[in-house]
Amino acid sequence: MRISIVGCGYVGLVTGGCLAAIGNHVTCVDSDPERIRSLQAGHIPIYEPHLEDLIAGARAAGLIEFSGDLPAAVRGSETIFICVGTPPLENGEADLSSIEAVARVIASESRGDKLVVEKSTVPVRTGEQLRRALEVYGRANGAKFQVVSNPEFLREGSSVFDFLHPDRIVVGVENAEAGEKMREIYRPILERKFACPVHAPAAAGCPTNRPPQFVVTTINSSELIKHASNSFLALKISFANVLADLCERLGANVEEVTNAMGMDPRIGPQFLNAGIGFGGFCFPKDIQAFYRLAERAGVDFTLLKEAERINKDRVSSFLEKARRALWVLKGKQVGLLGLAFKPHTDDIRFAPALEILKQLLAEGASVRAYDPQAMKKTEAQYPAVKYCKEPYEVAVGADAVLLLTEWPEFKEIDWQRVHGQMLRPLVLDGRNLLDPKKMRDLGFEYHSIGRPD
Ligand code: UGA
Repeated sequence: MRISIVGCGYVGLVTGGCLAAIGNHVTCVDSDPERIRSLQAGHIPIYEPHLEDLIAGARAAGLIEFSGDLPAAVRGSETIFICVGTPPLENGEADLSSIEAVARVIASESRGDKLVVEKSTVPVRTGEQLRRALEVYGRANGAKFQVVSNPEFLREGSSVFDFLHPDRIVVGVENAEAGEKMREIYRPILERKFACPVHAPAAAGCPTNRPPQFVVTTINSSELIKHASNSFLALKISFANVLADLCERLGANVEEVTNAMGMDPRIGPQFLNAGIGFGGFCFPKDIQAFYRLAERAGVDFTLLKEAERINKDRVSSFLEKARRALWVLKGKQVGLLGLAFKPHTDDIRFAPALEILKQLLAEGASVRAYDPQAMKKTEAQYPAVKYCKEPYEVAVGADAVLLLTEWPEFKEIDWQRVHGQMLRPLVLDGRNLLDPKKMRDLGFEYHSIGRPD
């Protein structure tokens, strides 16, 4: 199948790369000429495990190309995936102007039948608007459009894995024919018949070999599924974080509590990790957009507002912990381990770690930081920080080390060595990554979240 992907961000590149890897001819388009030039030169602008190899392999097989020419890409493909950004407006609603602009080009350039797939995260009823725009601006061309909503459930840091090994593929359609076309596109994944780049050499080697569910719904339901899923996961995290506060006050251990809660299949163990809160470009914006959407529909969803408020408080309460331990922050040397909003990514958008960094600098602390992937992006925003070549360097002469992203390698570092380099052996673990007993046995003053000090 000939497919165009509009938007070469996280979602577009992963979608394009994976659809090419399972045998489609894919053209990825972006309006940023610099981004296209660098993609054409073989440079992938984001760090995402497996993506670079996946795209290089698809290019070598002649299955993927990058272009700035949207009209040509539209004319040359049967299916167009819209993967452009929907950033938050001032009022929290999603900005859909990029989707509208793409729809107008699709409408004016199309001849014949086109399947238009909305992959960007959008508020419910965007599909209706998309259909209207396609009809209005394409009425002179005699083109026929089928609109599909196909939300993504990709986690940054493991999105190639997630795309190829999904739990479910959701398609919101207007008619059965569109659903069948989508099933055809995803057939290799549904039948687990592709050479898996994550678990080479073949799909048979994939540990997650359970075939995904193919869920066909209306477009409105499909759009809601995406916002509802992200918001529910965010609620779970905020619940765990309040629980952590309660555990601290009452002398319980949040890990023991959530561990046993998660054994109940009705609750499940995931997204119950307490810490400095959720960040990234999805949860914070989606929870806001979903709240605004409910408000406009006349439905009171303050539950979401509360989850958002709890999340914002995580950073202040962690800083308060740091102040309690250090007394004053001014003039203190603080080492940060982790900057990205989660491990295995270089993404720092809405990262709690950056909020903490900003506040430390504002209060006069001097900061050294290390992150395996996110230092370049952080340095562009915070040049005053000393960025270190390896984790041990952040500890040299430090009054405290703050662990802010749970990169697995931070668990493996020689904490004895860290201890020896610090001015004061104080560690505040914002992600509950380390073992409190081991840290205390090594002689650290160690504080984490919702676990006894
Ligand atoms: C999230 C969803 O998990 C994906 O399904 C969805 O497709 C994506 O948003 C999106 O809408 O594009 P992502 O933002 O990449 O994916 O990352 P998550 O793994 O969901 O983590 C989000 C944040 O929650 C991170 O800051 C993480 O540190 C935090 N988190 C997660 C916790 O604080 N505790 C947990 O138990 C789990």
